[in-house]
Amino acid sequence: MSSFIVKKSPPLSGSIKINGSKNSALPIIASSILTDEECILENVPPLSDVKIMLKILEDIGKTVKFDEEKHIVKISGEILPDYEIDAEKSSKIRASFMFAGPILARTGNARIPFPGGCSIGLRPVDLHLKGFSLMGAEISTGHGMTVIKSSGLSGSFIYLDFPSVGATENIIMAAALAKGTTVIENAAEEPEISDLCAFINKMGGCVKGSGTKNIVIKGVKKLHGASHSIIPDRIEAGTFMAAAAVTGGKITLENIVPQHLQPIVFKLREAGMNIEGFKNKMTAEASEEIFPFNLKTMPFPGFPTDMQSMMMSLMSVAKGTSIITETIFENRFMNALELKKMGADIRIESRCAIINGVKNLTGTSVKACDLRSGAALIVSALAAEGETEITDIYHIERGYFEIDKRLGSLGALIKKIP
Ligand code: EPZ
Repeated sequence: MSSFIVKKSPPLSGSIKINGSKNSALPIIASSILTDEECILENVPPLSDVKIMLKILEDIGKTVKFDEEKHIVKISGEILPDYEIDAEKSSKIRASFMFAGPILARTGNARIPFPGGCSIGLRPVDLHLKGFSLMGAEISTGHGMTVIKSSGLSGSFIYLDFPSVGATENIIMAAALAKGTTVIENAAEEPEISDLCAFINKMGGCVKGSGTKNIVIKGVKKLHGASHSIIPDRIEAGTFMAAAAVTGGKITLENIVPQHLQPIVFKLREAGMNIEGFKNKMTAEASEEIFPFNLKTMPFPGFPTDMQSMMMSLMSVAKGTSIITETIFENRFMNALELKKMGADIRIESRCAIINGVKNLTGTSVKACDLRSGAALIVSALAAEGETEITDIYHIERGYFEIDKRLGSLGALIKKIP
């Protein structure tokens, strides 16, 4: 199993181009099932999660070409009537359940193995299924599979008990070809939802209200192929800024959307960073010291839960006490144990983490528990005295393309041990 060896690094400096968003690419790849015509997707990050989704598309009959150098994906063709989604592949990622909505919309018979994903919580799909059944689908589960059947979906009024990102995306994809109009109330407002809706509208769909809590989807008879460039990854951008903060560096991020980064920028400014955004660029400069701050993860436009672990790394070496309240996932503090091995002073009380900043962390061997906590260990290791070995880095590579090489280009002392 590969690992990263990370040493205390000099202040990061230089420019980095932010890649396309994993959490936008995955649902948009699934939505290509809504048409047989060619879909051309640009700025698609060559991540392991993306490659698994594309492999599943091929398994069910689509023709897929991925130019990993240019980050361009071309998808076309029909899905096989007797398609079968490989359970082993779909168990590797959470996003495999995003195939349910588009396959149901096209075939009326979605057979989806139970999804996998991080260990950050139970991650049920009850809200996805509530939407499908309100549109007239019949749902059954068994043999590790969810089967969703419908002789033709009808538009419906759907209230989401929680603004679930995945449920909002799955329902939008199912409703795009339904008879009539679907209204999603209390929808997720994340930028990745707006990106999916922009793509569906380019395919000839009729989705209004994305980026708000109230999304209206008018079903159409047919969708055609389209081209689209995936939005930049706001979490990758935040991760690089956190790395600059802990090393006392100054970096420039290229290919970003400033408004997608606002919640992250506001908190990094509270930590002392000087951040300036202009058009699609942003400079982030660390202050002499990291100030303590509090944060509460919330659905967008609140602070993103996916940045929580990286901020815990920052707080671990801040000059004072910080508090994190994690409201989205029930098990997203696993990183605290690893940071404590490095000398961090962290106490967990239910959904709260109390972090007393220490002068410095010390390098040791730690383990990535999930995608974001793995990235947070890199952030901590860049500032820790000595050398840190991070194992189980396959978690990190699910969501960060060549993070060692790209951080290395900014001066980070990080190398991958195969
Ligand atoms: C998406 O996951 C992202 N993944 C996650 O990013 C992100 O953390 C999350 O949204 C929240 O922003 C992708 O887009 C591939 P949710 P998703 O449905 O859709 C509960 C990363 O690191 N819930 O908004 O699974 C659920 O238990 C990953 O890139 C239900 O109760 O998130 C959780 O507590 C991690 N019933 C909360 O909602 C449901 O039917 C948020 O889940 C669905 C969700």
